[in-house]
Amino acid sequence: MDNSSKKFDFIVLGSGIAGLTFALKVAHKGKVAIITKKSRTESNTNYAQGGIAAVTGKDDSFDSHVKDTVIAGAGLCKEDIVRGIVEEGPERVKELIEIGMKFSHKATENGDSELDLGKEGGHSNRRILHAKDVTGREIERALLDSVASSRNISVFENHFAIDLITTQKLGQPGINRCVGVYVLNNETNFVETYSAKTIVLATGGCGKVYLYTSNPDIATGDGTAMSYRAGATIANMEFIQFHPTCLYHPKAKSFLISEAVRGEGGELTNLSGQQFMEKVHPLKSLAPRDVVAQAIDSEMKRTGDDHVLLDITNKSARYIIDRFPNIYQTCLSFGLDITKEPIPVVPAAHYQCGGVQVSRNGETCINGLYAIGEVSCTGLHGANRLASNSLLEALVYAHRAAKHSLDNPNIPLNTDIPDWHSGDAINADEMVVVSHNWDELRRTMWDYVGIVRTTKRLKRALTRVKNLQEEISDYYWDFTVTSDLLELRNLATVAELIVKSALKREESRGLHYTLDYPKTVEDFAKKDTLIKS
Ligand code: SIN
Repeated sequence: MDNSSKKFDFIVLGSGIAGLTFALKVAHKGKVAIITKKSRTESNTNYAQGGIAAVTGKDDSFDSHVKDTVIAGAGLCKEDIVRGIVEEGPERVKELIEIGMKFSHKATENGDSELDLGKEGGHSNRRILHAKDVTGREIERALLDSVASSRNISVFENHFAIDLITTQKLGQPGINRCVGVYVLNNETNFVETYSAKTIVLATGGCGKVYLYTSNPDIATGDGTAMSYRAGATIANMEFIQFHPTCLYHPKAKSFLISEAVRGEGGELTNLSGQQFMEKVHPLKSLAPRDVVAQAIDSEMKRTGDDHVLLDITNKSARYIIDRFPNIYQTCLSFGLDITKEPIPVVPAAHYQCGGVQVSRNGETCINGLYAIGEVSCTGLHGANRLASNSLLEALVYAHRAAKHSLDNPNIPLNTDIPDWHSGDAINADEMVVVSHNWDELRRTMWDYVGIVRTTKRLKRALTRVKNLQEEISDYYWDFTVTSDLLELRNLATVAELIVKSALKREESRGLHYTLDYPKTVEDFAKKDTLIKS
């Protein structure tokens, strides 16, 4: 073990839009460590295709954006929170443009250029700012360029945050305060101790808890699991959003077909070419995501087919290639020319609408610990997130958390943090057991805790998850920790939180649909599902 403790003013866990924005906003006041478990670009943000929803169009209004968000959220959004985020959005987007973010533009009738606003499901106006279909990649480029020119920010790549260090865990009386984090340095294999006055979780979501997901491999719910272990309140984890359209191809791992494809005219059909969304929702293929994903699921069950089709061939080849270069090229690499043939698609786990419960400034219930971005639950998404609202929320909460932590600085805590200690044995069998347990967990969640749920299936899932947790716990305490084992442990915790939350909600609402309680129950409106360790 490495006995050195690294001291900073701010520690940020995660290098997506939320973490990088926060770091840039506080760096003039102190030393910032960004701790990220892979390379700095490897974040959920990097894979975002759609864009940022914000009111910038002439015909758009805050009221309209608020209304669309609240309708999608199926009665569980906190309206004051929604309005605050929506109204703050344009200012935050302007700042992003000022640091170098290049959104797509189009020519106006008089030859000028203006932002090209996209449309996605559930939005009544064009309001998605995007960079063709690689918005996230461009956001990461712009933010990381700025981070590189800041002398106060250090980025620690291949560093895996294992657990938060809190005063409660250290056995100190009084309010629970976060003082640091144990981090596995994957380059040296040592566990190091980092301490700071302010610690920020910006670790993203947990799509990898499901067998099929649009998320990259890093999305293992680390921040949610870590903060739950540390005593934070976790809210609304039953609301896992399934994106309706991921590419269905044996070799295409996690490839998303952006909702913007439907926004620009793409139509869903079954394999016989019938448009099944017409009888489901007036917005047809552009209905909110929970509605579209459930409709696809039920159409696949009705026909017995293992996918449906998304057809954008009604647009010219030139338009498709220019607007969706990434989707076009990726599909072509699998032998599919989307300008000539429909795209085979299936729903896959995409976004965690719940997470660590936070105040309007991103504070968790643990002093000194903030949560921003997908890991958090602010009240914006309710029971179903409106497309492209997440990058907006991340920008707004990064700004608010930065301002709040600068306006209310914590005093340094003179406390001794003990070095990390765990089992020393190295087990040659570990890899195979870990990978077997990963598979079992993800399949269990897919089979029993997916788009359509029942109480019996949820209980069966909980039993399996608990068995796996016992096995993981033995490994965790007896052997040296590895990233794979740590991710598995976090995924199992997140699985437990999702299943327990789903069991608590005895109704169907938004993304939580159960055959045992198929109706929405008024008593559950505005009621968050809360879990604390
Ligand atoms: C997409 O491009 O469809 C994803 C956008 C989002 O999840 O908000």
